[in-house]
Amino acid sequence: MTNITLTRLQTMKQRGDKIAMLTCYDATFAHTASIAGVDMLLIGDTLGMILQGHDSTLPVTLGDMVYHTACVKRGNTGSFIIADLSFLTYSSPEQALMSSGLLMQAGAQMVKLEGGAWLCESVRQLTRNGVPVCAHIGLTPQSVNVFGGFKVQGRDPEHAKELVESAKILEEAGAAMILVEAVPASLGKSLSEAVSVPVIGIGAGAGTDGQVLVLHDMLGLTLTGRVPKFVRNFMTGQDSIQAALQSYVAAVKDGTFPAEEHCYLE
Ligand code: KIV
Ligand code: NA
Repeated sequence: MTNITLTRLQTMKQRGDKIAMLTCYDATFAHTASIAGVDMLLIGDTLGMILQGHDSTLPVTLGDMVYHTACVKRGNTGSFIIADLSFLTYSSPEQALMSSGLLMQAGAQMVKLEGGAWLCESVRQLTRNGVPVCAHIGLTPQSVNVFGGFKVQGRDPEHAKELVESAKILEEAGAAMILVEAVPASLGKSLSEAVSVPVIGIGAGAGTDGQVLVLHDMLGLTLTGRVPKFVRNFMTGQDSIQAALQSYVAAVKDGTFPAEEHCYLE
């Protein structure tokens, strides 16, 4: 597989070619997913829940993120690697830069941070210093205690408008990608049309430029028994993990995933 670069991802958006992304936390899955054609691997701080068994992403340390990023980097063969900045590791532009440095040196090609327009200064600082940034908006799990639970965002038109405004402001500050989580499908589409950088959705409908799922969720592995509406089990009808990952990539690319049943309609 040829290496996926930010330029290539940008071109995919312009051409309307859907981008397939999965979370990934270790070398063997990185190898398997990249061979299966997954465009981007995200070392998500969901590892706090999926690997560590916590009930939120808040306990994850930057050290944890660096360790798993290094593991993924070793197994990867050509996918684009994004790593999450964990809780309270980017509360100032200076801290964001220091934290991102460690992730980039461990093998990340982009960092992801959660929040809105208030992050502009950090986004600018990172971009200026050679660190591409993905801004995660909508449901931002590090703020679960502010939201009062994992809830769908942007349902009221005022909030939806605010999210579109944030995306534009973040793009202007230099964000090279937007990730949007748990919003109505119509808002996912509006966001993708509002900015020229790729918009990747999870529970954000079929109108985004790409899709991401948590690896374990889409393989039908669950710790809590609770599966979000937007998840499809790609192991169904497949006889190997490799085949399941390939069928995920195919379904994202041909637009059959997400289907209406995986979307928040309003
Ligand atoms: O940490 C993570 O896995 C994420 C995805 C859910 C987008 O941020
Ligand atoms: Na995350």
